[in-house]
Amino acid sequence: MQALILVGGEGTRLRPLTSTVPKPVVTLVDRPFMAYMLEWLSSHGVDDVVLACGFMPARIREVLGDGASFGIRLRYLEEPTPLGTAGAAKFAADLLDERFLMLNGDVLTDIDLSAQIAQHEATGARATLALVPVHDPSAYGLVRLAEDRAVTGFVEKPTPDQIDTNLINAGAYVLQREILNPLIADQPSSIERDVFPLLVGDGLFGFPADAYWLDIGTPERYLKATFDILERRVRTLVGERLGSDGLAIGEKVSGSTAVHRPAVIGDRCQIGAGACVGELAVLGADVEVGERASIRRSVVLDGAVIGADCVLDSCIVGPRARIGQGTQISGEVVVGEGVAVGSGNVLDGGVRIFPGMEIPDATAGR
Ligand code: GDD
Ligand code: MG
Repeated sequence: MQALILVGGEGTRLRPLTSTVPKPVVTLVDRPFMAYMLEWLSSHGVDDVVLACGFMPARIREVLGDGASFGIRLRYLEEPTPLGTAGAAKFAADLLDERFLMLNGDVLTDIDLSAQIAQHEATGARATLALVPVHDPSAYGLVRLAEDRAVTGFVEKPTPDQIDTNLINAGAYVLQREILNPLIADQPSSIERDVFPLLVGDGLFGFPADAYWLDIGTPERYLKATFDILERRVRTLVGERLGSDGLAIGEKVSGSTAVHRPAVIGDRCQIGAGACVGELAVLGADVEVGERASIRRSVVLDGAVIGADCVLDSCIVGPRARIGQGTQISGEVVVGEGVAVGSGNVLDGGVRIFPGMEIPDATAGR
């Protein structure tokens, strides 16, 4: 089975995590985000993936390679300019099989694609969309469904008066390639606005999925995805790695420490005396944690250095960032790659600190 994954977006809402790394390869727990998608696809028999790229494709290729480690043939396509979700598929058409999966590249899910494909075949659909319920459909594609699962309406980003169901497009489709025929090559177009509405009543079906589903596009959701993976609310290989005791500790980790599960600690981390890690903490590889520091409900990426007596709660610290002694960070703050934050600071309220910025010691010069 073949899949086309759309990864053309810039991931602006996840900055500064995506300031230096494209969203598909931002680390989520212990692997690049795209690994979750590839592992999920592979578990449903996908062995051939085309990545439709825009932003920083070379970096994506560097991290994911030819897909061999996932048991997948992985190819990369780069649009000269963004062509939109349908334009990207049209651009890839020469590589596509008659029937293929198409996926939004920013979703963490364990939807049963095998069952979705089986329904597609049973109904003889031209397109079958996985659907999930959400509290507020306004930021998504709303999908109205008849009893026989035929789609009776598709409204992208509905206005409040258009919302009459909580089912939305989950961004996972089984498609017949011929639905791309009417599109004009190299002309931007949107599958949600220019294709699906026209297929209503003409072979468009929905597959209500009883599964975990999350769009990981913001720091808040990135943290939620992290916690859900650690708590095994979504089926992933990380969950298998954690096992029932909820703990994964890498090689050559040094220092005695109190670890509250679930937690993941990467290779070669050094943890100071009296420090406390967890619950719901992720340390990447080569992280240094100072004495008596406390890290819970937070992610600290590769090579970051957390000073003594720091308190981290609900935050993301980017790779190789350095946090000075006694600094407190909470409230979904994101510290970008390589940023130095001085000692004694208090960061809260969703502040984002970008690479190149510097935050001096809180007491300096006063
Ligand atoms: N190659 C390529 N080229 N990819 C693109 C382009 C493009 O021009 N534009 C967007 N993409 C990719 C994005 O990277 C993302 O993975 C996917 O297409 C969807 O685009 P988003 O910008 O994330 O759309 P959205 O989240 O507002 O809405 C979409 O996803 C919702 C579910 O999360 C729609 O498909 C909605 O209907 C859906 O409910
Ligand atoms: Mg999205």
